[in-house]
Amino acid sequence: MITKDAIEKRLIEQAEAAMEKAHAPYSGFSVGAAIMDENQQIHQGCNVENAAYPLGVCAEGSAISNMVLSGGKEIKKIMLVSTGEQLVTPCGGCRQKIKEFSNPETEIIVYHDNKTTVFSMEDLLPHSFSKEFLK
Ligand code: THU
Repeated sequence: MITKDAIEKRLIEQAEAAMEKAHAPYSGFSVGAAIMDENQQIHQGCNVENAAYPLGVCAEGSAISNMVLSGGKEIKKIMLVSTGEQLVTPCGGCRQKIKEFSNPETEIIVYHDNKTTVFSMEDLLPHSFSKEFLK
């Protein structure tokens, strides 16, 4: 049995390794993400900017694409790290992207200043639109 602390430590390592790969020459702001899916598989993502600025992608979206490509269907935990001086939470668009693969137990964890802070989807995107509305 792997402990919660051990899982978090591994997610932090994977998110930091992803952040190192970020392509952020314009903002100078690197972000790394690591998702643990329903099969305990980890999927990394980093932000990838573009000279045509609006085409850049966020770390969270990149990690979600990698998860889907590997067959993952559910975000159990997503760990985020950045080079920012403040604790950074997902941008609005990424909140909606995470929502698509989340459930009420999904943990959105930000590692900053040697501490983890855990948010739920409801904390970050209350009264949100989802597939339930399309039925
Ligand atoms: N960024 C992310 O990767 N995730 C977020 O949730 C916030 C913003 C990236 C986008 C851009 O490359 C840089 O951070 C500055 O906005």
